[in-house]
Amino acid sequence: MEEQRVPLVQAALLGLGTVGGGVYKLIERQAEELPHKTGARVAVRKILVRDRNKERPGIPPEKLTDDWQEILSDPEIRIVIEVMGGIEPARTYIEQALRAGKQVVTANKDLLAEYGEELTNLANGQGCDLMFEAAVAGGIPIIRPLKNSLVGNHIEEVMGIVNGTTNFILSRMSQDGMDYQEALELAAKLGYAEADPTADVEGLDAGRKMAIMASLAFHTRVVASDVYTEGISKISAKDIRYAKEFGYVVKLLGIARETEGGIEVKVHPALIPDSHPLAAVGDSFNAVFVRGDAVGDTMFYGRGAGEFPTASAVLGDVVDEVRHILGHSTGRCNGSFYKNLPVKPVGETDCRFFLRMQVEDKPGVLAGICSVLGNNGVSIAQVVQKKKQRTAGVAELVIITDSVKERYFRDALTIFGGMSLVRKISSVIRVYE
Ligand code: NAP
Ligand code: HSE
Repeated sequence: MEEQRVPLVQAALLGLGTVGGGVYKLIERQAEELPHKTGARVAVRKILVRDRNKERPGIPPEKLTDDWQEILSDPEIRIVIEVMGGIEPARTYIEQALRAGKQVVTANKDLLAEYGEELTNLANGQGCDLMFEAAVAGGIPIIRPLKNSLVGNHIEEVMGIVNGTTNFILSRMSQDGMDYQEALELAAKLGYAEADPTADVEGLDAGRKMAIMASLAFHTRVVASDVYTEGISKISAKDIRYAKEFGYVVKLLGIARETEGGIEVKVHPALIPDSHPLAAVGDSFNAVFVRGDAVGDTMFYGRGAGEFPTASAVLGDVVDEVRHILGHSTGRCNGSFYKNLPVKPVGETDCRFFLRMQVEDKPGVLAGICSVLGNNGVSIAQVVQKKKQRTAGVAELVIITDSVKERYFRDALTIFGGMSLVRKISSVIRVYE
């Protein structure tokens, strides 16, 4: 293509960390092809960072700035790519960029899970694009399918593995016998973990992604605090071993479904059968299942975190925005929140449970445990007590229940808490089938 005839669309990067660095390199790598793919040359004109003096190999220093106004007031910058993370100042910068008529791409799930509706409405009102493919499941295209490809469906369920760090940790613990801390440190070194990995291991990052997907799937505002969230930090090697013996693997699952009384959105570790397709999703890979009334079951699989997988999703959004700019068609597919469905409390949702407990090793104990469960409407599917786990008058009991309303199961646990024959509830993990 003759360069002088091809229009130039310029962007600014806000942030040059794992994702920003990947986006910059990918735009450079694609420089010759982008004009063919989009009809325009695409260039990064400015890069906002906190510390301009940090060494950044391969980055022309004149592109770096620590002054947001320099970017905001530059009419040549048509696209703002926010990859800094956090709520502020990212929220203010995005709002100001949209008000200035700039198109916005962001990977910021923390922000979208809190202010997605406000930002979407602002973008719609300004006739601008707000794109965030990278905010959920890294490199996997899942936002675009929910917004566009599957929009002709009534979406019934969105579920899957949406955090690369925890999937990496659980895979290493289960396959290599690595301990939790060692696996977490390796995930952080590989660039999968958030700046504060608590968000990963306590399920908050996955909760934010589920809030974003549930909002799109059910056309309802779902914020992070609506999502019941439990992380993997209490999962022990022993639980993983028991799961294996029962024919399950332990995964951190996100589940969002529309049910009669409202929508359920939750994130928690779960035992899934080792024959389930999600059981084979290892390392930092993510997978999302979407069930629609017309399409049936669909599955999306790929790298859920890291420099280039995430940059791939960001650049896909940038390319769409360039096409929209050239076609004067920005602001037409930002989503809507017209259904306004209630979110059910977790106690009202149904689930199966894996329960590992230490009990007194004497006659009648098992009968006592079973009668508490039975009196609370909890039916037992499997129960195991191992000979080698009986020490000094204490036996380890493992029970898997049938599906039950969560609050009935919790009532039974409360009663166990007041029984002297129950020495300790060692773990409670949900079972997904
Ligand atoms: P990161 O490595 O910590 O990089 C953050 C970058 O933003 C740094 O370059 C930092 O500047 C800059 N920055 C932070 N606060 C700033 C401020 N107030 N003003 C100017 N610059 C600021 O983060 P990351 O892993 O790339 O993640 C970025 C975003 O992508 C987050 O929203 C994250 O949730 C999301 N995301 C990450 C991944 C992943 O695999 N890492 C995947 C999907 C989505 P300095 O370099 O000067 O410190
Ligand atoms: N920390 C996130 C993860 C990055 O591990 O999945 C991708 O959103």
